[in-house]
Order: sequence, then C-alpha cells, then structure tokens
Amino acid sequence: MRFLSLIFLFSCVAEKGPLTYSLDGQRVLPATDRPEVVTFEYIQEKILVPKCLECHAWVNEPNEVNRRITPGAPDSSRLFRLMVNGRMPPRPAAPVETSELEIMRDYINQLTR
Ligand code: HEC
Repeated sequence: MRFLSLIFLFSCVAEKGPLTYSLDGQRVLPATDRPEVVTFEYIQEKILVPKCLECHAWVNEPNEVNRRITPGAPDSSRLFRLMVNGRMPPRPAAPVETSELEIMRDYINQLTR
C-alpha cells in the first residue's frame, strides 16, 4: 500500500498529475481516494447530489451544472466560487470540504473551453 502511494506521489511530481495539495498547502485526500480523471458523474454523485440537490434540482442536469461553470476557469465559475467562499451550501450546513473543492477545481480545469 505504502509502495503504491509512493509510486503515485512520484508520478505526480514527474508530470502534472492530479492535485494532492489544497490551496493552503495542506495534504488533502490520500492519493488513492482520488479518481485519476474527475468525471461529471463523479462530482455529481460525490459532491453535488449530497450537498446541493436538497435545494437545487438542477444538479441532476449536466447542462444546468455546466451553465454555472466556466470551462478551464474555476475561479470565474459561479458554482465554484460560491462553494469556495462558503456561501453554498448556506449555513448552518457545513462548508464543502477542501478536498472536495480540489476535486471540483480539477474537474473545471480539465474542461476545454
Ligand atoms: C439549503 C438550501 C441550499 C443548499 C443546500 C444549496 N443552495 Fe445554492 N442557493 C440557495 C439559495 C436560496 C440561493 C439563492 C436563490 C437562487 O438563486 O436559487 C442559491 C443560489 C445558488 C447559486 C446561484 C444561482 C444559480 O442558480 O446559479 C449557485 C450557483 C448555487 N446556489 C450553488 C450551490 C451549490 C454548488 C450547492 C452545493 C454545494 C448549493 N448551492 C447548496 C440554497 C441552497
């Protein structure tokens, strides 16, 4: 297990692999918990449905989610910004975790303009 993690970490250093560090430089999810390629289905199932569906039925519609995202530019994406600044989900719900924000960032970054 440790050996596999080392290989994974090494491959991240060797090429521009998936992010394993959060914005503040903290290590986030163990490398093995992260999908190699973050698909729409992944963010929908793991993040948007559990944290947003309660109030936003549109998370079930890929087109509606994409409408709120600027491909390749997470920091210009309304959906992402509201999660990062803690406004979505609204209090008292817990903010989206840093590790999940990184996965969202990866997803938006890999979309082509
Ligand atoms: C408890 C209810 C609730 C939850 C949970 C929630 N939101 Fe919201 N959201 C709102 C309300 C209320 C507004 C403001 C009214 C509106 O525009 O729908 C809003 C507005 C938004 C908007 C701007 C308007 C739009 O439709 O583009 C976005 C984007 C958004 N939310 C994303 C999210 C995301 C992403 C999550 C999950 C991480 C989430 N919200 C979770 C209640 C919620």
